[in-house]
Amino acid sequence: MRIVDLITKKTAGLALSREEIQYFIDGYTKGNIPDYQASALLMAIFFQDMNDQERADLTMAMVNSGETIDLSAIEGIKVDKHSTGGVGDTTTLVLAPLVAALDIPVAKMSGRGLGHTGGTLDKLESAKGFHLEISKEEFINLVNTNKVAVIGQSGNLTPADKKLYALRDVTGTVNSIPLIASSIMSKKIAAGSDAIVLDVKTGAGAFMKTEEESVELAKAMVRIGNNVGRNTMAVISDMSQPLGYAIGNALEMQEAIDTLRGKGPADLMELSLVLGSQMVMLAKKANSLEDARKILLEVINNGKALEKFRLFLTSQGGDASIIDHPENLPQASYKIEVPAKASGYVRNIIADEVGIAAMWLGAGRATKEDEVDLGVGLILRKKVGDHVEIGESLVTIYANQSEVTKVMEKLYACIEIGEKVPAPKLIYQIITQ
Ligand code: URA
Ligand code: CA
Repeated sequence: MRIVDLITKKTAGLALSREEIQYFIDGYTKGNIPDYQASALLMAIFFQDMNDQERADLTMAMVNSGETIDLSAIEGIKVDKHSTGGVGDTTTLVLAPLVAALDIPVAKMSGRGLGHTGGTLDKLESAKGFHLEISKEEFINLVNTNKVAVIGQSGNLTPADKKLYALRDVTGTVNSIPLIASSIMSKKIAAGSDAIVLDVKTGAGAFMKTEEESVELAKAMVRIGNNVGRNTMAVISDMSQPLGYAIGNALEMQEAIDTLRGKGPADLMELSLVLGSQMVMLAKKANSLEDARKILLEVINNGKALEKFRLFLTSQGGDASIIDHPENLPQASYKIEVPAKASGYVRNIIADEVGIAAMWLGAGRATKEDEVDLGVGLILRKKVGDHVEIGESLVTIYANQSEVTKVMEKLYACIEIGEKVPAPKLIYQIITQ
């Protein structure tokens, strides 16, 4: 087989066979195919697309390029939730203990945040001592006994995707549905769950800015999952404004605790219930979505979800006293209000821009090497559709520096006040097989 023939074939709009895709992924991962030929093939895929079979084959070739996690020693149906990335998205912190409280095993792999979106690992580390450097055996034991554990991302998962993603980044081939869908799904499949709930975000803070693109990506991922034997479904949810009120690590930890108490923001609570109900269904622990929602609400109301969170934090070395003593969370030295310059209605809170403002405070990383300041961030005091009086606070800035002019200017620039608009829809569509 010669790579140049595969490039010619794809350029002509023909489908590649499983063997041809395997040859490409193997050769590129091992360094036998140079970047210039791989780039040409990626560009051909970018313009000519791939059919469902090619997408599934590409995904599995990337899965098999490295280590895969074997979760078969964990009893029950393992359901994973994956978000395509958002601002202030605290759902994983809520869902992991919530679903585990129903005896559904949550065996989660987690990474750090980069850019305007936060990472679950950073948020968890706001419980002092929490660590996910645990062995695979310990991880599996913890899930079997507690139903929930989180482990750090293995370095050897889907090396083909790592190499290809870096190449796509510099060749203008990131924004391709078959390439994005196979990239995301390869990582989820290698991580070993039996079933996958995808939270595909849409809007300013999301990878996909329009509903149409988000639906297309969601359908592509759902089809890949189901074609390779993993029960997969997707929820399209709003990321035009941040989710909940809190953006920042310790602030989101507090928000998750409030939500597990049943006292969280309405949108975070609702999205957690929608995603959680789908997870319960895939785990076959309820007969209908209505029943699933009912039993999720039960474990919130009777305190079992919060107790599960306490157990989860403690079992991985984390200080669970933060649940009853929020003062034990990392704190910021300064709280600075951002008063509205006019009266009216909040029309827009551009999510990715708010994420960048939080990053500037130290809540996120501009580069992988940056340190995160766990105590800092933003609390929105208003959401889209809310009325605001001149002088009333729009946002509280939690900072470890008193000089926040740049952050404040950014916030004024991305929060629009004017005529009344309705609150945006939270759930756009549910995509199943
Ligand atoms: N996220 C991924 O993991 N892969 C892509 O290709 C795009 C976003
Ligand atoms: Ca939030």
